[in-house]
Amino acid sequence: MAEWIYVSDIARYQGEEVTIKGWLYTKRSSGKIHFLQIRDGTGTVQCVVSKNDVSQPVFEISDGLPQESSIIIRGVVRADPRSPIGYEIGVTDVQLVQAAEEYPISPKEHGVSFLMDHRHLWIRSSRQHAILKIRSELIRTCRDYFDQRGFVLLDAPIFTPAACEGTTTLFQVDYFEDKAYLTQSGQLYMEAGAMAFGKVYCFGPTFRAEKSKTRRHLTEFWMIEPEVAYYTLKEDMDLAEDFVEYIVAQVVAKRRQELEYLGREVTKLEKVRKPFPRISYDQALDLLRSNGVDISWGEDFGGDEETILSNQFDRPVMVHRYPAQCKAFYMKPDPETPRLALCVDMLAPEGYGEIIGGGERENNLESLEEQLSQQNLPAEAFNWYLDLRRYGSVPHSGFGLGIERTLAWLCGLHHVRETIPFPRLMERLRP
Ligand code: 4AD
Ligand code: MG
Repeated sequence: MAEWIYVSDIARYQGEEVTIKGWLYTKRSSGKIHFLQIRDGTGTVQCVVSKNDVSQPVFEISDGLPQESSIIIRGVVRADPRSPIGYEIGVTDVQLVQAAEEYPISPKEHGVSFLMDHRHLWIRSSRQHAILKIRSELIRTCRDYFDQRGFVLLDAPIFTPAACEGTTTLFQVDYFEDKAYLTQSGQLYMEAGAMAFGKVYCFGPTFRAEKSKTRRHLTEFWMIEPEVAYYTLKEDMDLAEDFVEYIVAQVVAKRRQELEYLGREVTKLEKVRKPFPRISYDQALDLLRSNGVDISWGEDFGGDEETILSNQFDRPVMVHRYPAQCKAFYMKPDPETPRLALCVDMLAPEGYGEIIGGGERENNLESLEEQLSQQNLPAEAFNWYLDLRRYGSVPHSGFGLGIERTLAWLCGLHHVRETIPFPRLMERLRP
């Protein structure tokens, strides 16, 4: 029995007879020969079925085979300099597992909404493969970074009793007799974790009922959130900078082929080296105004402002010290200028905008109580969180990096909808 191998391992089997289990990607015939492109998830290989080499029934199976039919082929691996993978297979046997119905996604152009409706099939295409393999690499790299530096992975809950990032984007769910919200961020729990373990991070899905149909907003997205006890804003920014430099370099090193397949200018990613520019909110405001943007002090930046700002630099820019009034309740005011919060956003270049939000947390009990009440948040829901300021409170900082926005930037995609296997958008809950 010929050994079952994956296309990605084919180089090790030159001259041997092997079995490939996969699906028919495309097919072309010239009378006596069928050229089947078989994909098995790890790659695509050309399988040549020659009338002279196989039995009549086997030759006929491959004849009228519809795209995406599942088949198992057996054949001999031979070197082929014209092949993108360097090898092809001279087929000796074909076994049909299921003859597919007419496949809805053809090589012709389809609209985005059609493709999104068929996302469960669309992910079989080479472009989606490239994006999602880069995603897998990005996630591994993010976790490696913290794992290698002594951070403890601490999973945050998905059902939460209160808001972290503002009450307007909460998804409420029934929770027996009570109600709960899907988490917007694991941060508050990471703060508890940092007091217990020093350096922690969580990685998981987060949810926001964002009523905005922009190219940057998903209602369900994945975030990696480190939190470190005794870190100030400065150290937090150093960490974010080092982290982003690392993940970009790793993804470029491991997934260059996929990035190039997507047409990404990898040289732009290779420029992402420390130090990243750091500007204050006030400086950012000047930059925006000199670019003709009419914005008054105190307003948060939206997508348009972020696009303009991030276009000014060839690497990510860190904007720090936003007005406290436009930021979350947990942020520590700058002791030198209390109307500013000790926070930072990192904006990716080439117009991509915010990929990281974070900063130093308010660690004083009275000030935090004050900030909760100013933002009309229910103190009782945060009582456990206030405990962290009652029992050994210390300065601490952290941040959250959104995987999908980071991936959109790395891959050079206009919209985040292709950066997650099954996107959830305001108007998309299916498939
Ligand atoms: O800036 P945000 O809201 O920060 C927080 O949630 C903090 N509690 C994180 C922390 O300090 N631990 O969100 C962080 C990042 C953003 O920079 C962005 O990359 C991503 O999460 N993000 C979204 N990504 C896709 N769709 C959305 N609707 C997003 N909202 C935020
Ligand atoms: Mg933010």
